[in-house]
Amino acid sequence: MYKYDHIDQTLVDQRVAQFRDQVARRLNGTLAEEEFRPLRLQNGLYHQRHAYMLRVAIPYGLFNSKQLRTMALIAEKYDRGYGHFTTRQNIQYNWVTLEDTPDILAELAKVEMHAIQTSGNCIRNITSDAFAGVAGDEYVDPRPVCELLRQWSTLHPEFAHLPRKFKFAVNGAKEDRTVLLCHDVGIELKKNKAVNNGELTADIYAGGGMGRTPILGSLIQTDLPWQLLPSYLTALLRVYNRFGRRDNLYKARIKILVKALGPEEFARQVEGEWLHIKNGDDNFTQAEWDRVAKHFTKPAYKSLTALTNEQVINIASEADKTAFARWLERNVKPHQVPGYASVILSLKPHGTVAPGDATTAQMLAIADLADQYSFGELRVTHEQNLVLADVEQAKLYALWQEAKKQKVALPNVGLLTDIIACPGGDFCSLANAKSLPIAKAIQERFDDLDYLFDLGDISLNISGCINSCGHHHVGNIGVLGVDKDGEEWYQITLGGEQGNDAAIGKVIGPSFYADEIPDVITNIINTYVAHRNEDESFIDAYGRLGVIPFKEAAYQNAKKKGEADKTVGEDA
Ligand code: HEM
Ligand code: SF4
Repeated sequence: MYKYDHIDQTLVDQRVAQFRDQVARRLNGTLAEEEFRPLRLQNGLYHQRHAYMLRVAIPYGLFNSKQLRTMALIAEKYDRGYGHFTTRQNIQYNWVTLEDTPDILAELAKVEMHAIQTSGNCIRNITSDAFAGVAGDEYVDPRPVCELLRQWSTLHPEFAHLPRKFKFAVNGAKEDRTVLLCHDVGIELKKNKAVNNGELTADIYAGGGMGRTPILGSLIQTDLPWQLLPSYLTALLRVYNRFGRRDNLYKARIKILVKALGPEEFARQVEGEWLHIKNGDDNFTQAEWDRVAKHFTKPAYKSLTALTNEQVINIASEADKTAFARWLERNVKPHQVPGYASVILSLKPHGTVAPGDATTAQMLAIADLADQYSFGELRVTHEQNLVLADVEQAKLYALWQEAKKQKVALPNVGLLTDIIACPGGDFCSLANAKSLPIAKAIQERFDDLDYLFDLGDISLNISGCINSCGHHHVGNIGVLGVDKDGEEWYQITLGGEQGNDAAIGKVIGPSFYADEIPDVITNIINTYVAHRNEDESFIDAYGRLGVIPFKEAAYQNAKKKGEADKTVGEDA
């Protein structure tokens, strides 16, 4: 894991001192709110419906037990005893006070964390594969590249005032676990013997994003040698900086520019800009790579023999075998090293807390589990779950028993109740409708694990407004809160998908009342069950059957049937 050097530490410490001074001036009235706003946003501090919200960066989703203990203590001391892990691998605190924020940032700085660039129109926290360095299908460990890009982009003076926020994702495995195509820039790392002498290269996708106008990123550059990433991305950002629609907030994301120009023309313009800087000083060097990459070496794995699933299950007591086998099937993933596995701790218990929330007690206990079972390291996934990446297979049963005590062992990873949800109307001042009670109602309706297992892989994502923080566009089933004449309504999309076959879901028609949603979802699911072929997943069945049977089922008991809403689609 990357360790701050004196430059990193000085930078973060200085920022805490600056912000302390800015907060003091805001509190004594010498700074007006309009003057203070950009300063607080540069430090991840939002003003929400009821309180301030602080967004803390977890670079590429990787953190250690010491950092988690600090996150836990911040939740205890300065918030209401919990933190919220987000889809972009950050953690958010929903109830902080302005007065406390400098102290919180100081606590974070002690464990090499900060909130710089987690907000504002700059390059945000870089997201990556939560299974980086351990995934069985990995071509390249993306973390050194992520770290190099993080250092390159942090406080980059030229890109501190972009037309809109800017999000990078980096993936280095066969399976995309980063929602790569929904990012402003997606960087796909490869190592191919036939290209660049087998050295690391990158394919660059630009112009993806969700929000009001969901668009998947377009491939604009292939086989870029890794050293040239900064000059190429500089060229790309310059084109965006120059031509991005600063005149219209709703059209200011790079996706609109790439769409307007067409990906070929956008790529051509980037290429034109790049020509001037391609061979400049900005590129990465091997020495820089070595400086950073030494932090991402493998932990001290034991030399073990791989166990079969059956052998692992046999470690469990007779009474536990079935439940443990379920957890192995859904929450445990294969590992590069024989005898090890990666474990997903579910932050989606049925109906009790918001998706992605962890309490102080849970965070402290999970930090202990990380120390005991996984070399003290953790990851957060974009589905808002936590990962212990390096667990000995022989210890999985013991870990499962501990995780169950903390209520983070529900075997629902990838199932209907592993819901991604934004905070919605309960916290967010931009919301059109609540998200969390809808997530809760669906989890309560589908509480039968046998049934969930039988349904298999289905993603259900909920956003409280069109900003799409809950990724509803790429859920197989998406739920979007909409406002109609001051009332909360919910629109359903079907057919969205994340990963290699990423797709944007389609709105099925007019929206529903909140209390109808569990029935609507049940009707959609029943249609799948009635029509599926053997072993056919929900998304495959949807692809084969088309929207009609699902739509008919969804509206069979709808209270109101009318025109489709006009809230989704092109920006006006
Ligand atoms: C409560 C505080 C929050 C506020 C005020 C907020 C605000 C926003 C806004 C305004 C956008 C749209 C940006 C645009 O299209 O230009 C957005 C997008 C997004 N937010 Fe949030 N958000 C909040 C919380 C969250 C949380 C909790 C998550 C994760 C669960 C999240 C994840 C995202 C993601 C992934 C997008 C990307 C959409 C895209 O690429 O177009 N946000 N957020
Ligand atoms: S989708 Fe809307 S309601 Fe949900 S967090 Fe984002 S801005 Fe807020």
